[in-house]
Amino acid sequence: MCGIVGAVAQRDITPVLLEGLKRLEYRGYDSCGVAVYAEGELRRARSTERVAELLSQVEKDKVAGFTGIAHTRWATHGAPATHNAHPHFSGNAKSSPRIALVHNGIIENHDELREELQAAGYVFESQTDTEVIAHLVDHLYAGDLLEAVQQATRRLTGAYAIAVFCRDEPHRVVGARHGSPLVVGRGVNENFLASDALALAGTTDQITYLEDGDVVDLQLARVWITDSEGRAVDREVHTVQVHTGAAELGPYRHYMQKEIFEQPRAVADTLQDIESITPELFGDQAYKVFKDIDNVLILACGTSYYAGLTARYWIESIAKIPVNVEIASEYRYRDSVPNPRSLVVTISQSGETADTLAALKHARGLGMEHTLTICNVATSAMVRECKLAYITRAGVEIGVASTKAFTTQLTALFLLALALAQTKDKLSEEKEAESLKALRHLPVAIGAVLALEPQIMAWADRFASKENALFLGRGMHYPIALEGALKLKEISYIHAEAYPAGELKHGPLALVTEAMPVVTIAPRDELLEKLKSNMQEVHARGGELYVFADADTRIGSSEGIHVIRMPENYGKLSPILHTIPLQLLAYHTACARGTDVDKPRNLAKSVTVE
Ligand code: M6R
Repeated sequence: MCGIVGAVAQRDITPVLLEGLKRLEYRGYDSCGVAVYAEGELRRARSTERVAELLSQVEKDKVAGFTGIAHTRWATHGAPATHNAHPHFSGNAKSSPRIALVHNGIIENHDELREELQAAGYVFESQTDTEVIAHLVDHLYAGDLLEAVQQATRRLTGAYAIAVFCRDEPHRVVGARHGSPLVVGRGVNENFLASDALALAGTTDQITYLEDGDVVDLQLARVWITDSEGRAVDREVHTVQVHTGAAELGPYRHYMQKEIFEQPRAVADTLQDIESITPELFGDQAYKVFKDIDNVLILACGTSYYAGLTARYWIESIAKIPVNVEIASEYRYRDSVPNPRSLVVTISQSGETADTLAALKHARGLGMEHTLTICNVATSAMVRECKLAYITRAGVEIGVASTKAFTTQLTALFLLALALAQTKDKLSEEKEAESLKALRHLPVAIGAVLALEPQIMAWADRFASKENALFLGRGMHYPIALEGALKLKEISYIHAEAYPAGELKHGPLALVTEAMPVVTIAPRDELLEKLKSNMQEVHARGGELYVFADADTRIGSSEGIHVIRMPENYGKLSPILHTIPLQLLAYHTACARGTDVDKPRNLAKSVTVE
């Protein structure tokens, strides 16, 4: 993942670089660093703490200059340590360093290049694949940084976005991208590079999205882009308004808690006052596309994948169209049987997830041209790559654990099920009206579930001392159990697994003892009686059941069975409501354990490496 910012200007650029880094911390926060050109040399500050700490170091060491690059890291090669933090320097050991470089991505042939460069006399200070690129650029440098970078990138295998500058050409930053995002921001006699336009908000809104293979030469009054063949190319400049995400926490302790409580608003915004179901909600060509398809293939990762699993139940039951849901990182590498009449749906909060993007490209490469994305970022690569799109309006999500992004994805996917059903003549007017009514009431219904927070906090205190937990659900609530388990492990570091309740007796029941909390999702649906039997199997073996039960399920609290009653049964939209208490349970358990809730260890908000 990692975040990159770079700049050439006629003013001290360090504040812009550091502000950009703060906004890019969602891409990784294992370490950070900045390098600038000042008084004939390269100066650098690096830290394994957060950007705020880097800021005090920069002030203390007086790191300031007109040209610079900065980086926030999500470690792949080499531990999160200062010597592995970017920017990496290269140059003749006898003089001061000549090249400074930052990188996002993974260089697959780094071992072979390292050997070659070591043989040429380069001494490595880090375990990173990035340092290899810095030395390679230095090795190829013969007075023209652009040429050196063009030559170096031809030697690289893997995914990368890089920004590099040279002591001997101090008013120039060169960038390159292949498989990892990089944008150019244009100013007046100053120009910028960043992994995401968000980093440059407030500095410039004139943004160019680089394409794979592009190399860009950034000077004070010139932006020169060449493509993978080395030909000069014009790339469009977009005016991009991005929210800085510098939202106030208000009464909340963490962004995750704030984002959980923003869900009524986020879902309402995602519904955009829709008055009727029409395919055009998904784009101008949607009617034609929906008419033509005979199956749906959903590709996604993590929480977005669980949204896809839920959507399968909806689309098959409402629109009667077969659905496959695949983990993007698996799909892209397996031999599958392509069907040109598939609607390929990618789901992604960020729209930049490397595995999902690659899976999408793979599907298109197999001849599947009907593509749709459900995405929270209108300017993202995913939206640009797909024929159709539905933009969820969750607003910026800062907490690494996805909350409002998930429930808005579910909202959009439910609309998709209805639109597909309508195109296939499977949606009566009554059904449409009834569904719209339920959707419109959804924000209020979510609000009522949020009011359960105090009861959930009491449970969280007990969960805080556990090391394992099981989550059970059936039917369309099984993916919600998976999501609940992911939330808990992600932020509280408690090992949690989810199972369809009927599957317990086929193995996982062996784990059940009085030390094992078993969280159970109990909606009032056609599987309720089966679920009750599964709960008895746990109860009989001393397991502690923690049940979120709809009001009319007749499940009551007793020895070993703890029940929180959900305010209302919500029919087909029930998975959205049952998500909320699981988010709150994970959140308060993590708080009780004192973890870094918004930035859990080892994770990043946007996963732009494979
Ligand atoms: O941006 P995306 O929706 O494509 O991200 C996919 C996953 O990385 C993401 O959902 C991840 O699982 C979250 N941290 C879960 O809370």
